[in-house]
Amino acid sequence: MTSETLKKAGPFKGQIIPPPDKSISHRAVFFSSLAYGKSEVRNYLKAGDIYSTINAFRMLGVNIEEAQGNLLITGEGLYGLKEPKDVIDCGNSGTTARLLCGVLAGCKFNSSLIGDESLSGRPMGRVIEPLKKMGANISAKNDNYFPLSITGGLLRAIKYKMPVASAQLKSAIILAGLFADGETVIEELIKSRDHTERMLQSYGAKMYVEKLKITVTGPINRLTPCDITVPCDISSAAFFVAGALMVEKSELLIKDVGLNPTRAGFIDVLKKMGADVEILDERMVSGEPTGNLLCKYTNNLKPITLAKEDIPSLIDEFPILCVLATRASGVTEIRGAGELRVKESDRIKAIVTELRKMGAKIEEYEDGVAIEGPVTLKGSNQLQSYGDHRIAMALSIAAISAEGESVINGTDAVGISYPEFYDELKRLTQ
Ligand code: S3P
Repeated sequence: MTSETLKKAGPFKGQIIPPPDKSISHRAVFFSSLAYGKSEVRNYLKAGDIYSTINAFRMLGVNIEEAQGNLLITGEGLYGLKEPKDVIDCGNSGTTARLLCGVLAGCKFNSSLIGDESLSGRPMGRVIEPLKKMGANISAKNDNYFPLSITGGLLRAIKYKMPVASAQLKSAIILAGLFADGETVIEELIKSRDHTERMLQSYGAKMYVEKLKITVTGPINRLTPCDITVPCDISSAAFFVAGALMVEKSELLIKDVGLNPTRAGFIDVLKKMGADVEILDERMVSGEPTGNLLCKYTNNLKPITLAKEDIPSLIDEFPILCVLATRASGVTEIRGAGELRVKESDRIKAIVTELRKMGAKIEEYEDGVAIEGPVTLKGSNQLQSYGDHRIAMALSIAAISAEGESVINGTDAVGISYPEFYDELKRLTQ
């Protein structure tokens, strides 16, 4: 376990290109591995979670090579996956775990999945239940946790109302729907990120989307290969956006950021808070809205109130939003966010505990937080990441905007989504 010692720094100046989008990188590897023929994935995320997905498909017999920083993936089709010789380790990655269950539900052979300590404590029952309804044979610890073993085959199409807003669950059922006989219809409670729907259609899947309803028609013989360029990750960019807003005299240009409306809730909230953030040069990259963000220090942030329907489009930005809310004049309330308790860590508990160590006035609810500001955070030499990449990065931004020195333990977790995070933090605040 590594730690970082950080003290007040800045201002944030210059430009940055954040790492490629994690969710889109996962999906590009998944769909290219299922297609028949050669796909190329450009600007993919070179970080722990994506290596978990690449490793899983290599174990399932897919040829995945790296050439000049891109991935060349030669799939043998939906029915060309091979029985793995060993258990598949999904590492820390919930997306690998849940989407893979959807694929393996359609494969005749048996596979077993494991993960690290964090992933082994995350609920899988949400994917197990609909996939069993579709006809897959699945056994898991307490019917809900890894290790999990699965034998699939030809599946039954189902109509499914999602009990939680989760793009991982939605995507797992869509993938299983490719192997099912007939129309699988999924109804969402609240719209979650729609990268699967956007991208899978360009690989030739028969599916359409009507507001909260997604229909996939199976069984499909072939997906056609595709060349995908991955935009940069708004969830990684969010840490530097917040840093620039919080540190005096900052002016930072963040380039090539994915701005898909199902992911960009953080930007909408920042505007409501009165933050000086401007979207420039909007364009489409591989079917995903993309643009640049110009962010400037903002003195007078306003508090906001967020409820259940606001959460999915900023789910991963919760920790950094809490840090930012300590600067707003008044009470920020974030509710309806119970899903955050089952992320890489219990993010509600983690952020409440750690920000309190820094002097924040923060209240914990079962489904969220209330934060009273403005407060100037104080450094703490006992901060913990809980092994969670986003907690580590949110606390790091808190630390460089705080009075005094902080020590954050468990900062190696950033390798899951942003291995260059500390190098970039130092470069931008020199
Ligand atoms: C993801 C969906 C979200 C998000 C996670 C990535 C995806 O999880 O928090 O970081 O790529 O589909 P849930 O599906 O659990 O909401």
